[in-house]
Amino acid sequence: MDKIVIEGGAKLEGRVAVSGAKNAAIPILAATLLAEGESVIEGVPDLRDITSMARILSCLGASVNREEEGVVRVQVLNEDAVEAPYDLVSTMRGSFCVLGPLLARRQKARVSLPGGCVFGLRPIDLHVKGLSRLGAKISLEHGYVSAEAGTLYGSDMYLGGPSGSSVLGTANVLMAATLAKGKTVIECAAMEPEIQDLSHFLVKMGADIKGIGGPRLVVRGVERLTGARHRIIPDRIEAGTFLMAGALAGGDVLVSGARPDHLSAVLDKLQSMGIDLRVEEDGIRVRGNGRPSPGDATTLPYPGFPTDLQAQLTTLFCRAKGISIVTERVYADRFIHAAELNRLGARIRKDGASVIVEGVESLSGAEVMASDLRASAALVLAGLVADGTTEIRRVYHIDRGYEKIELKLSKLGARISRVTTSEGESSEPSSSPAESHLEPVMPGSPYLDTREPPC
Ligand code: EPU
Repeated sequence: MDKIVIEGGAKLEGRVAVSGAKNAAIPILAATLLAEGESVIEGVPDLRDITSMARILSCLGASVNREEEGVVRVQVLNEDAVEAPYDLVSTMRGSFCVLGPLLARRQKARVSLPGGCVFGLRPIDLHVKGLSRLGAKISLEHGYVSAEAGTLYGSDMYLGGPSGSSVLGTANVLMAATLAKGKTVIECAAMEPEIQDLSHFLVKMGADIKGIGGPRLVVRGVERLTGARHRIIPDRIEAGTFLMAGALAGGDVLVSGARPDHLSAVLDKLQSMGIDLRVEEDGIRVRGNGRPSPGDATTLPYPGFPTDLQAQLTTLFCRAKGISIVTERVYADRFIHAAELNRLGARIRKDGASVIVEGVESLSGAEVMASDLRASAALVLAGLVADGTTEIRRVYHIDRGYEKIELKLSKLGARISRVTTSEGESSEPSSSPAESHLEPVMPGSPYLDTREPPC
């Protein structure tokens, strides 16, 4: 199993390009199930979660082919299948958003409940509420959500939960509403750029959606949707991660493709810490200028500070000149990275849904364990500035959401490499069977490995 090894202390210099957004690509790939004809999606990152999503689409009767430069072609060939099984959904929660498209197009869906994850409970009540409002009959049995509706009917609904809007809840209901009869109004819809991108793709397919980017989406159902061509937006979370890497490691980094309009809360936070940021024509430049000032941050749905950058910001606070506070308002338990950062010499204390971070002069390299995707990124950032060597195990987490992170960082001058340990050497549990056969996809090849059919 792979590990990432970093020799800390190298300055980062140069330009790094942001890949397409994973969390936009996932629901957009799900939306292709709604279409008659072929969809061509450009800028799809080559990531483990995307491979998992492609595998699910294949199981649901679609042909999915990856070409050069991140172009993915999807065409539904057969609409008989209505089930997304546990083996596949459990590897990637995002795939739960096939529920809405299946229901709208095939009148029936059976999708495994994704379960919890390392940052706590991940309920689906808002998905169920919204689809029920459209007339679906939904039951939860034997670990599956079963949904049925002869016809879906547009309806008014409020989709806010205890933490505000739901990204994939909005995606599921929005996709189903595009083919429902009549008008649907979704209040407290997620406003994330990824939901905007999904909406723009649906409009290209023929959907009628008003209010894109706001908290009130108005959808007038249409008879049919057709395949469309679309380019995925740049990944704002990857962009934010590289900006923080530049701020931590010093030097001068241009994060090309980063969209300032998608990163307002992040840029505001970094600037308030004294970090030198400049918006340029094709991206955002960061210049490292020593230890940053401390600060406080609270994660919120968009346009607030994203929970998916909370762990990385915590690493930045570890090096700040003073005490910082980070509060989670999206996932109260998403702090599993704190203990590993403490192994690297950080001083982080948890207090309810917050952590208090006492900035230190230096971190010291150690062996650490990645526990989830963004926690892995936080450890990589820490490794870049820690004295000596940091070894990060279980890096398959990072491959779910960062395309070739070690190559991108080493091109900037980081001393980082990926090491494949022999089986005997590894003390880690192996990945789940569904994960273990996910190989990198070669351009031009279908995603589904037909030697080992998963469905
Ligand atoms: N929630 C409910 N009921 C629901 C759904 C969500 O109460 O039915 C709550 C959640 O417990 C949470 C909050 O609402 O407190 C927001 O959850 P949301 O539904 O927005 O999360 P999600 O759609 O399942 C997506 C991203 C996550 C990201 C969150 C929040 C994808 C594939 N995943 O998840 O991304 O953290 O939105 O922004 O888009 C990641 O990329 O590392 C990642 C975890």
